[in-house]
Amino acid sequence: MVDVPHPSAAVAAAVGTPSVAEAAALLAAGPDARLVVAKQTSAGATVAVAQASAQVGGGARRGRLQIVGLGPGGAGHRTAAALTALRAADAVVGYGPYVDAVADLLTPRQRVVRGAMGAEAERAIAALSLARAGWRVALVSSGDPGTFAMAAVTLELAPEVLGTGDDEGPTRAVPIEVIPGVSAAPAAAARAGAPLAGPHAALTLSDLLLPWEAIERQLRAAAGAGLALALYNPRSKGRPDHLARARAILLEVLPPTVPVVVATDVGGPAEALVTTTLGDLDPTAATMRSVVLVGSSETAVVGGRVVTARRHPRPAPSPEDR
Ligand SMILES: C[S@@+](CC[C@H](N)C(=O)[O-])C[C@H]1O[C@@H](n2cnc3c(N)ncnc32)[C@H](O)[C@@H]1O
Repeated sequence: MVDVPHPSAAVAAAVGTPSVAEAAALLAAGPDARLVVAKQTSAGATVAVAQASAQVGGGARRGRLQIVGLGPGGAGHRTAAALTALRAADAVVGYGPYVDAVADLLTPRQRVVRGAMGAEAERAIAALSLARAGWRVALVSSGDPGTFAMAAVTLELAPEVLGTGDDEGPTRAVPIEVIPGVSAAPAAAARAGAPLAGPHAALTLSDLLLPWEAIERQLRAAAGAGLALALYNPRSKGRPDHLARARAILLEVLPPTVPVVVATDVGGPAEALVTTTLGDLDPTAATMRSVVLVGSSETAVVGGRVVTARRHPRPAPSPEDR
């Protein structure tokens, strides 16, 4: 509820809130706004004018960019820093569904720029351009922005878009901050138990940005080195067989008994967890909203939870060492 000078019982009875024009003007003008023209009514319209305490977007004010991780799904995984960044932003940029995921936090005074799937560079350029023009921008990303997400492309494009070209320049001219978020893999691991408690690697099965041969090499090397794995982007309409291909490669270096967790929509309304083994894994159980956790030789199911032991048995000391 916004404090207004002229609340109306008749308006409250009609629309459920005692002020429309004055409240909307104050909200749109942002924090510490002041009403400079109280509501003026006519037959067809009611108008009020509020003055912002600072320029809302654009102009002389120094902009900034925060690249904000929203966590994998529900509000329970949002960090306090992410909430602060979103509330302080006067422009919010992101892939449409990620912007929708924070609809409960947005206010009418915020400019919202919704991007298309895959158009990461365009979103980064839009966010950087707004920040350069003086807006306080939150560029939202699912999970953690530094994990297969927006942080890298944005930082790569910053010197060019901000027009400074040197390494220190962009952050001096327009501060850029990466606000970490809970990534899908640790969120899924927490639901399953502690499968990533030991050394592990996060890999992507998407070949949009790297060749499939490189992904195969990474799978063999990481699993062969005894790391547990978190497989992002395991499967999608365009890559229906990637998880099946990854499973076949992993079976070359791992026993079929290794525990596997397919975690889908973690933290969201359709959350589902399937615990299985590499041998029994049905790759079609994963979707583009799944992350797949593959254990190591130290992973076991203990009391229904998937746990990777951190204390490995040491070889007995040789007689010379005693
Ligand atoms: C482009 S990556 C983005 C990763 C994100 N930055 C993170 O840190 O979680 C998209 C992939 O993240 C994983 N993912 C994102 N949200 C998820 C969720 N709620 N549950 C399971 N996996 C999720 C899936 O593997 C999906 O294909």
